[in-house]
Amino acid sequence: MKIVLFGASGNIGRPATEELLRRGHTVTAVTRAGHLDGLRHQALTVTAGDVTDAAAVAGLAASHDAVLSAVGPRIGRENDRATIVGAARALIDGLRRADVTRLVTIGGAGSLRTPTGARVMDDPHFPALWKANAEAQAEALDLYRGTTGLEWTYVSPAAHIGPGERRGAYRTGGDTLLTDDAGASEISYADYAIALADTIESGTAIRRRITVAY
Ligand SMILES: NC(=O)c1ccc[n+]([C@@H]2O[C@H](COP(=O)([O-])OP(=O)(O)OC[C@H]3O[C@@H](n4cnc5c(N)ncnc54)[C@H](OP(=O)(O)O)[C@@H]3O)[C@@H](O)[C@H]2O)c1
Repeated sequence: MKIVLFGASGNIGRPATEELLRRGHTVTAVTRAGHLDGLRHQALTVTAGDVTDAAAVAGLAASHDAVLSAVGPRIGRENDRATIVGAARALIDGLRRADVTRLVTIGGAGSLRTPTGARVMDDPHFPALWKANAEAQAEALDLYRGTTGLEWTYVSPAAHIGPGERRGAYRTGGDTLLTDDAGASEISYADYAIALADTIESGTAIRRRITVAY
């Protein structure tokens, strides 16, 4: 497949780029600076773009089979609704203009539900620092749910995502946080990248939010 990947320089976007290339896809990797240090591949093109600009999204997405967005606020931008909601609006508008229907996007875990039915972000132990961005991620999900025509999938990670082993295995859920037997909700960047690539390749979970965790 020919895939445009926004946020290719990020903790999630970088391994996602590598995973798609490993599987033989052709990747247009987008970063704001227009370069991706230390990654060279014959099927990789690196270019500059702002995912909150619908015209730029349309121009970059044209003639591709699918779009993967791994974009999010950089660390230190704890209240960056403009990036999260702006990206969702521009992706929805830009893909419509480009006549590209398939979008897989990373999302937040804060809008997932606990077994009691409460949102994860409303738990008193949820870090206050992350609340604004979690609310913005929930708003973005609502925007996708309000679309027609777009074949989106919103992939919430586990509550905790970070560097770690590449197990090549994960579980998939819907709107409820996945936890293991010890109560932990975790996934590595590498395995989240596998889940994102699997979702694009399989064409499943259309117009749905899913979550992935060990
Ligand atoms: N458990 C959770 O809920 C959870 C946990 C972790 C992450 N997340 C979500 O996932 C997001 C990504 O996480 P991460 O660790 O991969 O973040 P990261 O390493 O900071 O990467 C963010 C990526 O977004 C890109 N970006 C930001 N604004 C952009 C724009 N306007 N146009 C194009 N690209 C833009 C950055 O590109 P540049 O190189 O141009 O800056 C970078 O590639 C987080 O911001 C958060 O929303 C959720």
